[in-house]
Amino acid sequence: MAALGGRGRAAVLLRRGLVPGAGPGLVPGAGPRRHRHKEKWAATAPRVPPTRLALHHFDSSYSLHLGALWPSVRAALLCEQKYGALLNSFAAADHVPRELQLLNAADFISEAPQKAQHWQQDAAVGEARGCQEGSGEGRTVVQEGMMTQAEMSPPLCTSISSKIKCYTFPRGDITRFRPARPDALGLLDYYLLDAASLLPVLALNVQPGDFVLDLCAAPGGKTLALLQTGCCGHLAANDVSISRTKRLYRILHSYVPKEVRDIVSVTSYDGRVWDQMGGGTFHKVLVDVPCTTDRHSATEEDNNIFHKRRTKERHMLPMLQLQLLMAGILAARPGGAVVYSTCSLSPLQNQCVVQRALDIAAAQFSIRIQAEDLRHFRVLFQDTFCFSPDCGLGELVLPQLTANFGPTYFCKLRLL
Ligand SMILES: C[S@@+](CC[C@H](N)C(=O)[O-])C[C@H]1O[C@@H](n2cnc3c(N)ncnc32)[C@H](O)[C@@H]1O
Repeated sequence: MAALGGRGRAAVLLRRGLVPGAGPGLVPGAGPRRHRHKEKWAATAPRVPPTRLALHHFDSSYSLHLGALWPSVRAALLCEQKYGALLNSFAAADHVPRELQLLNAADFISEAPQKAQHWQQDAAVGEARGCQEGSGEGRTVVQEGMMTQAEMSPPLCTSISSKIKCYTFPRGDITRFRPARPDALGLLDYYLLDAASLLPVLALNVQPGDFVLDLCAAPGGKTLALLQTGCCGHLAANDVSISRTKRLYRILHSYVPKEVRDIVSVTSYDGRVWDQMGGGTFHKVLVDVPCTTDRHSATEEDNNIFHKRRTKERHMLPMLQLQLLMAGILAARPGGAVVYSTCSLSPLQNQCVVQRALDIAAAQFSIRIQAEDLRHFRVLFQDTFCFSPDCGLGELVLPQLTANFGPTYFCKLRLL
């Protein structure tokens, strides 16, 4: 065959369907002759599906950032996600833990400190043996990702709220939970969510009587988790989207009794201007920002931020995230804490946003902030989640086929 160069060769390959991923829908006129018709939808339908654009984007950026880990993370993103069942302590559902245990599910939060203590003891024994045996080849290898006794102080273990209970199936077990059921008063017994999305709430470590702001709260999974701590003195749950705020109301009504709902105020402000409401009042602030929602973007065409018409919105995300985080920082009182979180693997939306906020807070507002060390989360929850080995600033849960949660990025900032 005569050599076909450039466009000519591409056209032949496209007609033969030999270009990977180029389905007939992408090549008008490529189908059998009798089916040829002018496809009206072609004018409005995206030429390349947003999921494919998302994957292309992820392949080029995350393969650099995650290196050898990216293929396994990619595979997990494209497979069914795992859920956790956040128990509703407000429902009369005493039988539910037993029911879930019989299915081999366990509360990953309450069992974590005990497991961590066990690992600490093992590590200490290992370290002692290592000292005795010298630092040569005979030294006991501490399990990968495990911190030494000195690195993980016991008080860090106790900073996990034991009142939040979330059941997950063990690694590799992909059993699905049954749908939630109402109790006699109509309150649902549990809320299904990505269990990794509870880590930002646990990091916030709400204390009795705390005034808490959930700046981007809808549809409300984390708001519900914050209420499960039983510690919020007041909870301001805000989200700019009216339709999503309605979903938040629905969740509150389905899970929370009236007397507890009374401590929650739901608003629909643009979180970026929250400081106009009077800043510096909250003990704890959660800033769970809009992001590229990587799992959704890789698998769902609907409401996909990689749709061509949303390109500008997508490019503006880091700026929006930074503005929301700054608003969260300004809403917290001195000594208070802010947790920033996303469900993206992107360093531009994660570490870079946090670093920029730290710089602006210091330079423009003279607010000194310390990013808290959350490495103990890696040890505590290593049985349930797969953490990025080195995220730099904050922690990142990586989706993996045997523990298909996340991605979840979270970073805790303490105002000094
Ligand atoms: C990742 S979702 C929050 C999920 C929620 N925290 C949960 O756990 O269910 C991000 C939310 O930010 C909201 N949002 C976007 N821009 C905002 C803004 N300028 N101010 C406040 N909320 C905003 C979106 O409507 C969306 O509901």
